[in-house]
Amino acid sequence: EAPLRVGIAGVGTVGASLISMFLNDQERMTQRFGRQIVVTGISARSRSKDRGVDLSEMAWFDDPVALAKSDNIDLFVELMGGEDGPALASIRAALELGKPVVTANKALIAKHGVEIAHLAEQTNTQFGFEAAVAGGIPIIKTLREGLGLAQVQRVYGIMNGTCNYILTRMTNEGINFQDCLKDAQELGYAEADPTFDIEGFDTAHKLAILTSLCFGCKIAADQMYVEGITRIDQADIKVASDLGFDIKLLGVAQRTPDGIEQRVHPTLVPKTSTIAGIDGVLNAVSLETDHVEELLLAGPGAGGDATAASVISDIFDCVRGTHVPPLGLPVAELEPYDKARMREHEGG
Ligand code: NDP
Ligand code: HSE
Repeated sequence: EAPLRVGIAGVGTVGASLISMFLNDQERMTQRFGRQIVVTGISARSRSKDRGVDLSEMAWFDDPVALAKSDNIDLFVELMGGEDGPALASIRAALELGKPVVTANKALIAKHGVEIAHLAEQTNTQFGFEAAVAGGIPIIKTLREGLGLAQVQRVYGIMNGTCNYILTRMTNEGINFQDCLKDAQELGYAEADPTFDIEGFDTAHKLAILTSLCFGCKIAADQMYVEGITRIDQADIKVASDLGFDIKLLGVAQRTPDGIEQRVHPTLVPKTSTIAGIDGVLNAVSLETDHVEELLLAGPGAGGDATAASVISDIFDCVRGTHVPPLGLPVAELEPYDKARMREHEGG
């Protein structure tokens, strides 16, 4: 069988890790998935930047949309970031041509996920975004394919590696907020604009995607209470600790008597709880369902390699031809978020 030709737009923290995995693990990948996968085209802003990986065998595109449309790629990977602009234009272009798309871009999915999922359905094309929520944790796959008949009552967790890294170091080492943030940026955990991380918006984007998959409603990232970690200082951490608690930034979505509620804010968690032990860049997502009491998935939430591993798992699903609606249900069957809330309310 001819190799699967992959185009990658964005060769930063995640893109460079992904390319490095393709270059260094070619034999294992071919053995495991029965088909060779080759990166044939790339796009980034600066052509001259050293990215620590050998790009010499890949065609360079200044324009990511041209890469998405290129006859020399079969699958398009978007790793540029940004909720609109070239990320959105190139994803649309690929799907319109029936080329599978894989992305890690939660900001874009939070805003345009329903439209993109609809386009993917209309063109019968795979659209994968495992890497967009909780980095290396296979939470999207679990929700799309792994729960059987179980109905989620509550989903909550630590969904931002940067914030968890900052809070952990502030708590365990007494280091100040700004120094921790700087380290998180250097380690490649933070967003290009770290405001998204520390003000809670990145967690809100991820939570809104999970809410849609858990409760069968449209993505509504702008309809939730969001508070980040910028106002937390050492005094808060000490008071919490003296009372037996750690502070974690949690995203929570749950069925309530008034419908589905989603919120993001710093939370006191007992030091003895499992979630308090999720430290550093780790994330954890808990699913409480009517069939399984609690399912807790934990793992690296950010960083090039962890995220690239999730991108690869989506690419493999495309190679295998796994076809599930991107948001779990066909878009036509998703309730508007408000209506989902009302229905819950009416049902008591
Ligand atoms: P980086 O900022 O490290 O890399 C972004 C890449 O995109 C760079 O190579 C940049 O080019 C390129 N780029 C940006 N704008 C354009 C454009 N207009 N045209 C062509 N190329 C462009 O980001 P990350 O790798 O950290 O993140 C990428 C995506 O993955 C984002 O959506 C992010 O939210 C998501 N993500 C990141 C995780 C992480 O841990 N870092 C984890 C999970 C998801 P150049 O290098 O030339 O500037
Ligand atoms: N900036 C994000 C985080 C990247 O720190 O969790 C992973 O989505």
